[in-house]
Amino acid sequence: MKKNFLSIERLTQTFPDGAGGTLTVFENASFGIDKGEFVCILGHSGCGKSTIMNVLAGLSEPTSGVVKMDGVAVSGPSLDRGVVFQNYSLLPWLSALKNVTFGIKARYRNWSRDKVIEHATRYLAMVGLEGDVIHRKPSQLSGGMRQRVSIARAFANQPKLLLLDEPFGALDALTRGTIQEELLKVWSQTEQTVFMITHDIDEAILLADRILLMTNGPFARVAESVEITIPRPRVRTDIVTHPNYYAIRNHLVQFLGKRSKELAGQRSDGESQSPDPVRIDLTEPAPEPEPDLVRAQLKAVNS
Ligand SMILES: Nc1ncnc2c1ncn2[C@@H]1O[C@H](COP(=O)(O)OP(=O)(O)OP(=O)(O)O)[C@@H](O)[C@H]1O
Ligand SMILES: [Mg+2]
Repeated sequence: MKKNFLSIERLTQTFPDGAGGTLTVFENASFGIDKGEFVCILGHSGCGKSTIMNVLAGLSEPTSGVVKMDGVAVSGPSLDRGVVFQNYSLLPWLSALKNVTFGIKARYRNWSRDKVIEHATRYLAMVGLEGDVIHRKPSQLSGGMRQRVSIARAFANQPKLLLLDEPFGALDALTRGTIQEELLKVWSQTEQTVFMITHDIDEAILLADRILLMTNGPFARVAESVEITIPRPRVRTDIVTHPNYYAIRNHLVQFLGKRSKELAGQRSDGESQSPDPVRIDLTEPAPEPEPDLVRAQLKAVNS
């Protein structure tokens, strides 16, 4: 069996439901992520996406089950796993540059000051922040710029795994588009593994190698793993003309609009719950006909 870089094994999360009972968010969820893969997860509000991400980050303990990275069980936060939250979480008293160098200094303790600054400046430039602007404090930056700083900070630390929880949720559509493309650029240059939560179907198709689809909770399931059969590099304006784009999009819309509810609330009965792989590719040639069938057809033509 192929070993994944990140392996989520029989993850179960329950919480007290506030009325003396128990809320089972998900049960026995199992899936894997390969090294260098960009995986997005889509699902309705409250199904448990952030809960999964917090466990992957080591920020919270699951009720049962285990997450393994490179074969080692995740326990507690680590510099090997970078997290970008929706609210940027920059340090307000530090400049953009210092927000980035802060983490690099913690990770690479023997680097010289110049090397740290050079490294941070390079990552800020990758997200389009150059010149005087990098010396501004977060309060002097726009929302989009702040989000770029937090992406540069996460990538600059070169974590093995990058976890993004709706990182562009608060941005307007235009800024969002620019930053998505910057994120793709940085990712393709660094080959880091990314797990990203989003509510935006088009964003997920643009960015992901695979999209995990989650049913509604409680007892939510990661029900499908949809491969994005659109070649890279991808540019928003071009991918919409690819023959697979709307076929994949329709599948995702159907799932979120209908099947996520129909499949909701199914208990695992102790079984490990892995997503079904889905591959939609309209560009694939039709399968070769069976030789017997060809012979029969030839006979029919000749007779
Ligand atoms: N610490 C907690 N205590 C009790 N219940 C919790 C806790 N954290 C999350 N939940 C519940 O678990 C469920 C999943 O929450 P989670 O935040 O993972 O959802 P989500 O899929 O990220 O939603 P959204 O898209 O709105 O961010 C929700 O019903 C939520 O109320
Ligand atoms: Mg969430």
